[in-house]
Amino acid sequence: MIIAIDGPAAAGKGTLAKRIAAALQLPYLDTGILYRATAKRVLEKGGDPADVATALAAAQSLGADDLARGDLRDAATSKAASLVASIAPVRQALLDFQRHFGSRNGAVLDGRDIGTIIFPQADVKLFVTASVEARAQRRYQEFLARGEEVAFDEVIADVQARDEADRTRAAAPLMMAVDATLIDTTEMDADAAFARALELIREKLPR
Ligand code: DC
Repeated sequence: MIIAIDGPAAAGKGTLAKRIAAALQLPYLDTGILYRATAKRVLEKGGDPADVATALAAAQSLGADDLARGDLRDAATSKAASLVASIAPVRQALLDFQRHFGSRNGAVLDGRDIGTIIFPQADVKLFVTASVEARAQRRYQEFLARGEEVAFDEVIADVQARDEADRTRAAAPLMMAVDATLIDTTEMDADAAFARALELIREKLPR
């Protein structure tokens, strides 16, 4: 069984996808990690994340250690991840890994193009979103919890910039699959989103 969970940054996809995977005993893949790890390799070699050949070489050489790193969420890596993710050959290089991951034992995958490109035949497709303000507020709270000082205005500008980049890029832009179900978490906490997702999954699953 493949469950595809797509949506914009900070909509709560990761938390939701992990809980669904645990509840259904399915492997879980955060596909954003692939783009973040690619970006990190480029940055560490002093390369330009917007350069096609450099980013492609980094994507092709990713190993398990790169994906397991705990330092992929800083601002510089996030920005570089957005750049490498807009390069079509990089996306192509990471596509097989995602399909293999899912086709071994089924999986819950979260990202931007799981239901549209990676697994268009997914059994269940959820599109998880929330208002820009709600998503920026959550990101802001995460920064505060990590002890990082940042202005709310900067966080909201960053969320808007990433939305724009993800939605308008030519390669696999963020969009809701026609057969996906929308979950708007603006007014929902994590428990409510999880309950709604399970309800939708149960409706779709063969009994
Ligand atoms: O979900 P995230 O913030 O960890 O994603 C990091 C970057 O990778 C972000 O710019 C969107 C991009 N991404 C993508 O293009 N396709 C995916 N399936 C997952 C992430």
